[in-house]
Amino acid sequence: MAIRRILTIDNAADLATLKKISTPVEAVTDEVRALMDDMLETMYDAPGIGLAAVQIGEPVRIIVMDLAREGEEPAPRYFVNPELFDPSEELFVYEEGCLSVPEYFDAVERPARIKVRYLNYQGEPVVEEAEGLFAVCIQHEMDHLEGVLFIDHLSRLRRDRAMAKAKKVRRVA
Ligand code: NI
Repeated sequence: MAIRRILTIDNAADLATLKKISTPVEAVTDEVRALMDDMLETMYDAPGIGLAAVQIGEPVRIIVMDLAREGEEPAPRYFVNPELFDPSEELFVYEEGCLSVPEYFDAVERPARIKVRYLNYQGEPVVEEAEGLFAVCIQHEMDHLEGVLFIDHLSRLRRDRAMAKAKKVRRVA
């Protein structure tokens, strides 16, 4: 396992990669599992609660996530080729952040509940219903697979503000 560099929007080459549409995974092989292991380790190190493969420069349809609270046992989850369906009409607003958009948080409105179909770490098909933080996170990460960032849901003014923040963070770091 290895900690990989997380792409951020302040870097033009990184941003171009983050805008790519990720391609489906053909089969959940040991190589794919090794990538998922790296993604999880990178996410924990950041630290964050969700990460899409494109965020470490691999535009393939894989997401890792761990929504366990502080003090709880780690609960890693892996989503290969995830698809969302049956979104609720009811919406939910959450203050989102993203490891690729350093230190910027803003409110995004999304369906409160949604179903997700995917292959797990073993390559087995799973269908489940997401709500609460899980629903927010899976929709945020699915956006990454389509080259969309959470700030793309915001006004131009707020997107510019996020970019300025990212550039400032980079200068200080
Ligand atoms: Ni993100």
